[in-house]
Amino acid sequence: MSKLSTKHLLGIKNITVDDINLILSTAQNFKEVINRPIKKVPSLRDVTIANIFFENSTRTKLSFELAEKRLSADVINFSASQSSVKKGETLVDTVKNILAMKVDMVVMRHPNPGACVYLADRVDCSIVNAGDGAHEHPTQALLDAFSLHEKLGSLKDKKILIVGDILHSRVALSNIFCLQKLGAEVAVCGPSTLIPKHIEELNVKVFLNLKKALQWCDVVNVLRIQLERQDIQYFPTIREYTMQYGLSRELLKSIDREDMIIMHPGPINRGVEITSDLADGNSAIILNQVENGVAIRMAILYLLAGSMKSNT
Ligand code: CP
Repeated sequence: MSKLSTKHLLGIKNITVDDINLILSTAQNFKEVINRPIKKVPSLRDVTIANIFFENSTRTKLSFELAEKRLSADVINFSASQSSVKKGETLVDTVKNILAMKVDMVVMRHPNPGACVYLADRVDCSIVNAGDGAHEHPTQALLDAFSLHEKLGSLKDKKILIVGDILHSRVALSNIFCLQKLGAEVAVCGPSTLIPKHIEELNVKVFLNLKKALQWCDVVNVLRIQLERQDIQYFPTIREYTMQYGLSRELLKSIDREDMIIMHPGPINRGVEITSDLADGNSAIILNQVENGVAIRMAILYLLAGSMKSNT
């Protein structure tokens, strides 16, 4: 297979295993390209991409921009806080106006779950979801799967644990869909108040005890507490959260698993969900994830541009 089955990347839930494998293998080729002295290829010359961000971002925004530039696309960046959204312009009007300037694709981050699907139904261009509220973050899940594949080979039957604020995490949901499609087993761990009530229906194992969860898994993916999405307090204090769910070397040592592969999508709250020595240690692949984000996003943009051409 050399083409995606979809015109957009809105989430992992509705893409096929073939789509995922095509993105991962294409990213492998692009990773080789961006490690050469000349990192740029002409693949998206004459394609114009708008990155529209209604929420803050460091990794996703910069790696999309870098991916677009490495593919020779023309790039425009839109930040909602400095735009006419502040004067009351709607999302659809905003994007229709951007498209009128002959823009071909839109990469969007938005605080509202479903915003990308809503937009894709109303405008005529490929949309890439760069994170929509607590819903999905498909490019993060794909770069996580790529990074894990580099470490472990096939993910079939591998046991992956996601720890932290699962309730508010788009990374958790997209990772669950992606890892399961690739044959892995997924578990989550955190305070019961931060675990979605019906998550077991997704075939996900639930642990409330971090030590037991770590004894079960091959890899741990640590998430931060998303205080910006919490309207009420879900645990007594940050200190108590850290005592129960913070990852530390002492905890890994106590189960003889100091070499456990550690992931984190960033941004890290050092000393809260993970100690600094672990985040910076040899078992952490956190910066590999960031590095792989560029290759994954190049692959997605390149493949979507291909499906766009074949539809015209
Ligand atoms: N992982 C992630 O989405 O980071 P940013 O919010 O900095 O893009």
